[in-house]
Amino acid sequence: MHVLFCAILFYLCCYGEARLWSKGVVHYAINSKDYDLHSQDIIVSTLKKLESEICVKFFSTPFNHTLADDARILYVSNPDKRKDCPPEDYSFDKTVVDIHIGYKCLNDDDISRKIMEMLRASIGDKDYKPNSVDLYKTFQAVKKKDLRTNSLLMPSDRDLINTYYLQECGELTQKPISGRRWYAGKTMELNSDNEKFYNDKLWPFGIVMYDFDKKSTASDIKKLEDAMKVIEHASCIVFQRISEDRALQPRNLLYFGAQGEAVPNLGFIEGNQSVLLSSMLTGAPGHSAHTLSLLMRVLGIPMMSNRYDRSSHIQVNWNNVARMNEHYLERLPKEAWVRDIEGEGTAYDFDSVTHAPANYMCTDCSRGQQTVTPIQDYLWQRTLSMGHRTDLSPADMEMLSLLYSKYCQVRFVKNAKK
Ligand SMILES: *[C@@H]1O[C@H](CO)[C@@H](O)[C@H](O)[C@H]1NC(C)=O
Ligand SMILES: *[C@@H]1O[C@H](CO)[C@@H](O)[C@H](O)[C@H]1NC(C)=O
Repeated sequence: MHVLFCAILFYLCCYGEARLWSKGVVHYAINSKDYDLHSQDIIVSTLKKLESEICVKFFSTPFNHTLADDARILYVSNPDKRKDCPPEDYSFDKTVVDIHIGYKCLNDDDISRKIMEMLRASIGDKDYKPNSVDLYKTFQAVKKKDLRTNSLLMPSDRDLINTYYLQECGELTQKPISGRRWYAGKTMELNSDNEKFYNDKLWPFGIVMYDFDKKSTASDIKKLEDAMKVIEHASCIVFQRISEDRALQPRNLLYFGAQGEAVPNLGFIEGNQSVLLSSMLTGAPGHSAHTLSLLMRVLGIPMMSNRYDRSSHIQVNWNNVARMNEHYLERLPKEAWVRDIEGEGTAYDFDSVTHAPANYMCTDCSRGQQTVTPIQDYLWQRTLSMGHRTDLSPADMEMLSLLYSKYCQVRFVKNAKK
């Protein structure tokens, strides 16, 4: 509960007040006295086009329609018979949010700009200044440059809205949570000790913010982002890169570059964590699961080979372990060990993407020495396959789902309103 509370605080401080359109749906009405049928059509069609770029939906709703208590309606009108549509201030205190679109602004670009401005206000973007003429000009300049693409919104704006509306739009809950069931037919469960161990290690809402140092090469960026996609496809986790031109900068992020920690923190940590990009990408020779394993670590998932009961399954040859790295091979406390509903240990998973390879953290394993040796492995199969996965094992997926499902599904606005 404590973590949930912190998570809400975290979002409150960054998102401002709770103004998001509930469930990502903007109910709107157009004043039919201010706009003729043709003009109304233009507005409706622009809103439809925007739906293909952002997850927010626009539902036309009769103005006198009785909405649910906390629902709002966006009212498009032009009471002053304006021609233009300068930036304006939006009030989300009442059930009606006014937006004014002048006659000369009845085109895709201007309507999109106004809608974007309103959505920015809805996420509580405090740095956004409604009267800044500069911002308006910048927008126009970028728009012109971007003409070759058909998109109405700048990528950074699109990302911004999609990130902040991720929960409301319910995108996460629509993602299939595969690997729900443990292959032995037993479902893992968190006991209270597990919760204590993991709670402060989880990223709020399952969203990991990150950025790259400007000097990072495109191929390095791609390698890391490809690994992120593997995890995204197997879980409800989202890795979100922040961009420079975004007004809102997250307070907690991973910053990959030429400096920083070789091994990221186990789980969430507040602030700007610098991580060495090269060490995210390159592990022991042949350790193909290396990057995925470190990303799992970022998410708070420790290595299988460090599990409390690992000594029944593997042996660590301490003499071969590189000095100062011993702690990466230490056995974890019992609280980190997640068991099934009957309190029994689930099968030890040699296939886990988080399992160490046989040459993990080795001083010199070039002649076949090992740091990690399976206890029973007559045909060398385990020795050869450990740490060589390129995707998550069913148990890895189950673990992520167990720890994160609830975080991914939290509707923060509902909670924040209380
Ligand atoms: C809502 O307004 C329309 C006309 O704009 C009218 O025909 C309809 O009866 C109104 N409905 C209610 C519930 O007042
Ligand atoms: C994070 O830290 C790096 C390096 O210290 C810095 O270059 C970057 O701008 C920081 N990012 C944010 C969003 O604070």
